[in-house]
Amino acid sequence: MEKISQPVVKKDHQPKMTGRALYVGDYPSEGVLTGKMLRSRYARAKVLDVKVPPLPEGYFYVDRNDVPGDNNVNIVMDDTPVYARETVEYIGEPIGMVVGPDEKEVNRIWSEIEVSYEELEPMLDLRKADTVFFDYEYGKGDMEKAFAEADKIYEEEFTTGYQDQTYLETQGMMAQPEPDGRMFVHGSMQCAYYVHGAVMRALGCGPDEVHILQDVTGGGFGGKEAFPSILGCQVAVAAKKANAPVRCVFDRREDLEFTSKRHPSLCTYKVAVKDGKITAMDIDVKFNGGAYTTLSAVVLQRGIICANGIYNIENLHVRGRALKTNTTPSGAYRGFGAPQTFFAVEMMMDHISRDLGVDSLEFKEAHLVKQGDATSTSGKYHFPVPIPAMIDEVDKACDFRRKHKEYAKPQTGRYRRGIGMSMYFHGAGFTGSGERDIIKAVAKLHKYPDGTVEVLASNGEIGQGLRTTFPKIVAHELNLPLEKVYYNHPDTARVPDSGPTVASRSLMTVGELLRRAAIKLRGIWKDGEDQIVEEHFKEPDFVIPFYLDKFQGDAYPTYAWAVNAIEVELDTFTGISKILGAYGSFDVGTPIDYNIVMGQMEGGFLQGIGYASIEKMDYDNRGRIRNNSFSDYLIPTMKDVPNLKCMLHVEKYPDGPYGAKGAGELPLVGAPGAYVEAMEQALGGVKLNHAPFTAEDALAVLAKEAE
Ligand code: MTE
Ligand code: MOS
Repeated sequence: MEKISQPVVKKDHQPKMTGRALYVGDYPSEGVLTGKMLRSRYARAKVLDVKVPPLPEGYFYVDRNDVPGDNNVNIVMDDTPVYARETVEYIGEPIGMVVGPDEKEVNRIWSEIEVSYEELEPMLDLRKADTVFFDYEYGKGDMEKAFAEADKIYEEEFTTGYQDQTYLETQGMMAQPEPDGRMFVHGSMQCAYYVHGAVMRALGCGPDEVHILQDVTGGGFGGKEAFPSILGCQVAVAAKKANAPVRCVFDRREDLEFTSKRHPSLCTYKVAVKDGKITAMDIDVKFNGGAYTTLSAVVLQRGIICANGIYNIENLHVRGRALKTNTTPSGAYRGFGAPQTFFAVEMMMDHISRDLGVDSLEFKEAHLVKQGDATSTSGKYHFPVPIPAMIDEVDKACDFRRKHKEYAKPQTGRYRRGIGMSMYFHGAGFTGSGERDIIKAVAKLHKYPDGTVEVLASNGEIGQGLRTTFPKIVAHELNLPLEKVYYNHPDTARVPDSGPTVASRSLMTVGELLRRAAIKLRGIWKDGEDQIVEEHFKEPDFVIPFYLDKFQGDAYPTYAWAVNAIEVELDTFTGISKILGAYGSFDVGTPIDYNIVMGQMEGGFLQGIGYASIEKMDYDNRGRIRNNSFSDYLIPTMKDVPNLKCMLHVEKYPDGPYGAKGAGELPLVGAPGAYVEAMEQALGGVKLNHAPFTAEDALAVLAKEAE
């Protein structure tokens, strides 16, 4: 193992294991006001009147009239209000906040507020939704000709449901007016500078009048990418009005019902086949964006770029829309739009192969992209595509090829087996030219006279290990012991904007900036002196520029790759299936810390298995999320961890630190394809079209069979 990959004790191991780590909810309550959100009870309504009972001294009711700046949260677009406008657009939308020193009293006031509404007809059905937030289209080749010349044309529809990030620590933010007039906002978040931009705008003040600190954060998984900007503005406005610190921490129920989750999807595939090979794909992707746009544009972009999987499709047309419904706004979740379309394309490939009477793995192999091929957006796979070797690794680990053929034969008896495989990539870093045109990351190293080095960057430790891996890179390059290099939680008053902690970009992109900064520092190092070095992002020369208006060029500079196989045993009496094994080969380049990367792979894979099998969330006919507790929304627990075997396949990326590529999201993406394919075999070769595929779903198939 390379030196940089050798595992170390995580820098935040001790404080987290001993309970010393301070999360936003752990700050002492003295002098801090508690905020409780007043939320819409209707999916769509005009708010006619809010009757607030008389407020005791020190208690406040805060709403849009108190927003000193702009009542729009700065996200990608600015349609999300800080506090609701005249109409509310989803159940749970924040209308206002009650704040005060005593939580019980806050609750009493809150329960006595009377809101009168004029109900409006909500749109709750993705199929009927007609407000289009984003509409993208791209393609290549000659679709008409390919379909006209096809031997066979297949058309199918695939759907996926919500998935909630279910980080251990719920959303929570705190705002505190400082004696010098600045507003200090801190809490649980991934992207300190996103919150900074948003709070500035809501308060209508300059960049130096606000500073944002990431507190110890109990997981984000994308859920704390944009949402903390909203809550950050809400507490900042409240703190401004009360002129006192205000904290708002959600309970689990609020968090599950009213914070962003993965977009439900509806994908339609129309595929032309000639001489046993796919010649064209016409793909329509619809994502349920919920009531406001938040991150739907970028989630959708990634989703449609992946819509043809890792297959070479000469003639391709992809259209993607994010549509508005009057439901909780959807947002980022590990994988960012890719899990939905990779599921659809993997199932499509499987279904076509079975119709053609060929093994699905062999069919997929016959269509695989390779180095030098064009990507879906007419960019290029610049680096090796290690999928064939990774298929072999997984096959070796679980005897896939043999089992896959064996389980395809008719099975009888109570317990029946199946095995499925998915293969996919995760585009490393921001989509398109975002890194070059928008983020323009800057990272610094500060060497103090005592010889210690501080990493100055804005990326957040959210469990993925940055507080350890950033210093590890710098220490390695400077040949210093790891204790001499440290990375604090980012405070925008102290660190440059190295961009958000999203898109698995931090380690790959900012980590590389830090490696280069360390080389620079090594060159000018003077003992006993205070020294600062700085590095700026530069797009690698080989990248074919990406144009979003045409969806053309390299959407990503490089790709992390994976092959997953899942083997199940279905109990036909109960519908419950046991996972006999889940096997993954993952190429994320050089692991910067073997244990951290393996933790990412295992944890992400398990989240994917949850998404594929048990994590079902839906809303009722009023638009209210029905699964608002851990007894109604099941995620895998320790007891559900199957025989999980993750393997690393290293294909180095020359522009990532020591060859590392984006790692964090990859392991989640492929589980639904592999799992549902396995369920198809266990259910006697049916064709399945949706995830999650639960025990109830299995029973429904069995019941039909019995008819
Ligand atoms: N791992 C843990 N433990 N906790 C998290 O919140 N977030 C995931 C992934 N792994 C997450 C995680 C998501 S959504 C992203 S985008 C990446 O980590 C971020 O990786 P990066 O730090 O390299 O950008
Ligand atoms: Mo990750 S979904 O890009 O925060």
